[in-house]
Amino acid sequence: MGNRLLCLGLLTALLGYCIYTPIPEDVAQPGTVMLLSAALRALERLSEAAELLGLNYMESMGLLTVAMLVPPTSDENVTVTDTKLSNVPVRLYLPRRAPGGLRRAMLFFHGGGWCLGDAGMHDHDLVSRRISNELDAVVVSVNYRLAPPHHFPAQFDDVYSVTKFFLQSQVLAQYGVDPARVCVAGDSAGGNLAAAVAQQLLEDPEVKTKLKAQVLIYPALQALDMNLPSYQDNANKPILSRSLMVRFWSEYFTSDPALRKAMASNTHIPAEAGHLLQFVNWSRWLPAEMRGARTYSTPAVGSSELGQRYPGFLDPRASPLLASEARLRGLAPAYILTCEHDVLRDDGVMYAARLRAAGVPVTHHHARDAFHGAMTFISWPFELALGHRLLNTCMDWLRENL
Ligand SMILES: *[C@@H]1O[C@H](CO)[C@@H](O)[C@H](O)[C@H]1NC(C)=O
Ligand SMILES: *[C@@H]1O[C@H](CO)[C@@H](O)[C@H](O)[C@H]1NC(C)=O
Repeated sequence: MGNRLLCLGLLTALLGYCIYTPIPEDVAQPGTVMLLSAALRALERLSEAAELLGLNYMESMGLLTVAMLVPPTSDENVTVTDTKLSNVPVRLYLPRRAPGGLRRAMLFFHGGGWCLGDAGMHDHDLVSRRISNELDAVVVSVNYRLAPPHHFPAQFDDVYSVTKFFLQSQVLAQYGVDPARVCVAGDSAGGNLAAAVAQQLLEDPEVKTKLKAQVLIYPALQALDMNLPSYQDNANKPILSRSLMVRFWSEYFTSDPALRKAMASNTHIPAEAGHLLQFVNWSRWLPAEMRGARTYSTPAVGSSELGQRYPGFLDPRASPLLASEARLRGLAPAYILTCEHDVLRDDGVMYAARLRAAGVPVTHHHARDAFHGAMTFISWPFELALGHRLLNTCMDWLRENL
């Protein structure tokens, strides 16, 4: 009996240790956040265990996506269908009320580290519905291919091809969309794709329609320096740990664990990429309060081997922050949300600074009491006032600027 109790006690302690995440003091509803974070940690640990047994880590993590899928269901305001555009699956949201003229449109790319997620996940579906209904907008939420098995540039190619298809004047006309009121938007890895699409469209001579806006919600924007201050400060904050982000980034390019290990120790930067370091130089692009007391030292550059095998991580279509200033000029006005307790905080903050330096109008909303992914927690069982607040702030901006 005593032994069993001891075992149970040890097991509970171990479980608690494995899934415990400290919740930052200024984050509201700490109980809910703790539960949410613990559930995700538990899934991560289980997926690691499954990997040891020979199963695929991301496939196990993907159970989360599957559990949260909802079918395309129309309501009194919005017609929702799963269909294909340009041969890529999308979930389409069309407002039902009689149009009072041409409509707005949003191309939305969901998050999930290029490996997970779906336009049909409950919270993404809710957000798309709200935008479609309240902004009287056609929302195209893209189900791009995921890693593994699909690596860069498959994800980018899918969202780009849907966007380019949709921006054709006869397609816009078919949906009753005003060509002057179309934006791209995405959260996390989706914010990465939105930023990359906005850049690529500028250089595409076949595209005549200009985007009205780009909405980047806690975007991932670079895989060059994995030791930015935000990576150091927030390595173990809720939802997205540094190790999981490193895993997502490396998996975007390859399932070869060599890249993941090198990224984890920030030793993946090839000498030839030295000229790109200026674009992620946080001594230059971060405001003083985020640099803190640290002094900048240039990340070490090493062998060219990984850069040659997996050149994706140096490609601005995967790392939009690595685009030169000339490529940023003329980009659509940006709304950028960053969260203080997020490994990706500095990606977004530095992109805001670089866009401004290139003359692009930027609305940068920095939420000091927020963590990565917070905007998607807007329904039971993980409903957060914070999620609603962040979404409402973004919606207000869209009402004015789209
Ligand atoms: C339909 O739109 C109205 C007005 O925006 C809103 O009050 C109502 O809740 C919406 N219905 C659904 C099912 O979302
Ligand atoms: C980083 O920025 C600082 C301040 O602007 C500058 O002194 C330093 O040379 C830069 N380093 C690199 C590698 O660009």
